[in-house]
This record gives sequence, C-alpha cells and structure tokens, in this order.
Amino acid sequence: MEPIRAAIVGTGNVARLHAESLRELGEDVRLVGAVDVDGDRLTTFCDRHDVPARHRDLASLLEKDRPDLVHICTPPGTHYDLALACLEAGSNVLVEKPPTLSLAELDNLIEAERRHGAALATVFQHRFGTGALRLRAMLDSGVLGRPLVAICHTTWFRNQAYFDVEWRGRWDTEGGGPTMGHGIHQMDLLCAILGDWTEVSALARQQARRMETEDLSMAHVSFANGAVASVVNSLLSIREESYLRFDFERATVELTHLYGYGDDDWRITPAPEYADEVMAAWQAGSSGVPSAHRAQFAEVLRSLRMGTPAPVTSAESRRTMALVAGVYASAFTRAPVRPAELSTDSPFYRKMEGNGPRW
Ligand SMILES: NC(=O)c1ccc[n+]([C@@H]2O[C@H](COP(=O)([O-])OP(=O)(O)OC[C@H]3O[C@@H](n4cnc5c(N)ncnc54)[C@H](O)[C@@H]3O)[C@@H](O)[C@H]2O)c1
Repeated sequence: MEPIRAAIVGTGNVARLHAESLRELGEDVRLVGAVDVDGDRLTTFCDRHDVPARHRDLASLLEKDRPDLVHICTPPGTHYDLALACLEAGSNVLVEKPPTLSLAELDNLIEAERRHGAALATVFQHRFGTGALRLRAMLDSGVLGRPLVAICHTTWFRNQAYFDVEWRGRWDTEGGGPTMGHGIHQMDLLCAILGDWTEVSALARQQARRMETEDLSMAHVSFANGAVASVVNSLLSIREESYLRFDFERATVELTHLYGYGDDDWRITPAPEYADEVMAAWQAGSSGVPSAHRAQFAEVLRSLRMGTPAPVTSAESRRTMALVAGVYASAFTRAPVRPAELSTDSPFYRKMEGNGPRW
C-alpha cells in the first residue's frame, strides 16, 4: 500500500508536533512537502524533519506535490483561504483550531467539501485520548445514567508580552480571545461528550490585558440531553488548569490537566449503590493513549484509507464553533442565545464579535 502523501503549511511552533507525530506513525504516511512564507523558518524546519519539497506558497505545493492531506498550521486568520485552495485542488485538509474565523467561513468550506469531493477535518486532539473515548462509550452504554451537571474550565495564564505577537488578541486575525483560541479545546471535548447544545448565556470581559478581544468569558450552557454546563475561559489564572467535570446520575467523572492528558489525569467517583458496575465498566474501557496530535492523526489516516469522513469532521467542529459564536453573541447582546439564532442574518454568523463588542 502506498503511503498517504501529507504536507504541512506553516512551519512554526505547532508544525513541529505535526511533523513528529507523522513520523511516529511510520510507513502509513509520508511528509512530502512544506510551505512557509518565511524562507528561514521553512529551511530550518525542512532540514530538521527531512522534508523533501520546500515551497514559499501553497499553490506551488498543490500543483507540484499533489498531497492527499494538507496540514494547515498557520495563524487562524489565514486558515480559510488556505483550506479553500486545498479543497479546490482536491486535497483533503487537516486544519489547526480554530478552523476558521467565523461560521460563515466554515459553511463556505463545507460547501467546498461537497463541490470538490475532498474533506476538511479540524485538530481537536483531546477527543482522542482513551480517557475521553472510554467516557463516551460508558455514557452511550447507559452505565453512568443521565448527565446532569458539567464544569468546563480553561483557566490559563498569558502575560501581556504574549499579546505582542502581531496576530494575537485581535478579532480580524484570531477571531477572539480565550473563548476562541484556548477554551475551544475544552468546549469541543464538552460537546463531544454531551452532544448538541440548546442555549447559552454568557459574559465576556476585558479584565486585565490590553488587547482587542476578551481575556475572560463565562457561560452557562444547556444541552439537548438535559445537562447544564458552567464554562470559564480565562487567560488570567496564575495556577493554570484545564478542568472538566461531569456529574452523572451514577458517578462523577473529572479530568484535570493542562495541555494534554493521560489516563492518570481522569478520576471517577461512583455512587455507592452503583460502584461495582460503574468501576467494572471504567476498568474495562480503552486505555493507554494520551490526548496528543498523534492519536488524532492515526484516526484521520484510518478514515482516509477507508474513505470515511476524517475526524473531527466539519459538521462536528461546526457545533463547537457555533458554541463559541453563541458565547460572544450572548455576551454582546446580553441575552440568552440558541443555535438557530446564529443564522445567516445574524451579525455573529459573519464575525465572532458581531457588529462590535459591547463590554
Ligand atoms: N492544537 C493545539 O494544541 C495547538 C497548539 C498551538 C497552536 N495551535 C494552532 O496552530 C496554528 C499555528 O500556531 P503556531 O503557534 O504554530 O503559529 P506560529 O506563528 O508559530 O507559526 C505559523 C507559521 O505560519 C507561517 N505562515 C503565516 N502565513 C502563512 C501563509 N499564508 N502561508 C504559509 N505560511 C504562513 C508563518 O511564517 C509561521 O512560520 C494556530 O491556528 C494555533 O491556534 C494549536
């Protein structure tokens, strides 16, 4: 079987994880080319990771190397144009989070997937650790009972210097602050476990940093299955943590980590009367895989081989992006928001900040 031909666009920080993860996946995939507008970065990256073809623009890569899969690792404001060009050339796309700056852009890419028969997947690696897979399987089996309450905290710290990088902290380049750029990972996992959300009430603040976007948001989110979640996205929290907690009828399940988890970062506390059955299911569940890029890439490659939609599919990432848009829409209109209100005539459909933030 020929290896899948992968390429990387943008050879900065996160691209290193992509190249290393692809290499770890062995003969199934080959990194055939890379693109960066910065020639020095491109050279250093390609030398370090043995990438044969080097390009200063995407068009040249698509024409000469014809990759099966293009990893987009550039700043968020560039994702849409680059992903569209790949889909139009018939190459599948694996784009770093956030996939686009707006729901409107994402819907255009979904339309392009249909037109050109290529697929768009988004990197949300925390869905792929075995802890999350085990939790989802237990929820589906009914052993945990109904989900009732959830907590989803991204309490991270970024000092003012972090926002000196030209594309950070701006609506037009990042599409938002910690809600869009950081907490989106945890909110995506929340949605992967709890499913469709039905209403969000939120606030957003510029609490301490000088930047265009929020540095803090807080939200209450209702889900179709009846669960309610409390969400915090902060870049002001000196003891940093990513924390998810799910209170089911028969157990509390918690995940505490920062940028990636292993099995040991999960904790389950069963209700005494269900302890045997819950703990038996927990111990029998899948284990051993941390929530790293590699775990997701393995699933992406498997899907490409089988001709099934690669995860996280555009439909799944759209639900998470709609929750992000819903947080901003609720915060800036000071009203609860339902998914249907984020339709094409909503200003929050075209831009995460709508007609402009209202602090
Ligand atoms: N999944 C994760 O855990 C995770 C972690 C970090 C970053 N990210 C995401 O990865 C993306 C990149 O972040 P980063 O920190 O690596 O950024 P970075 O600034 O370190 O690197 C971006 C690179 O893209 C290049 N570039 C910019 N525009 C380009 C274009 N049009 N064509 C080709 N190259 C271009 C730049 O020259 C730079 O080398 C962002 O979307 C970020 O949110 C995800």
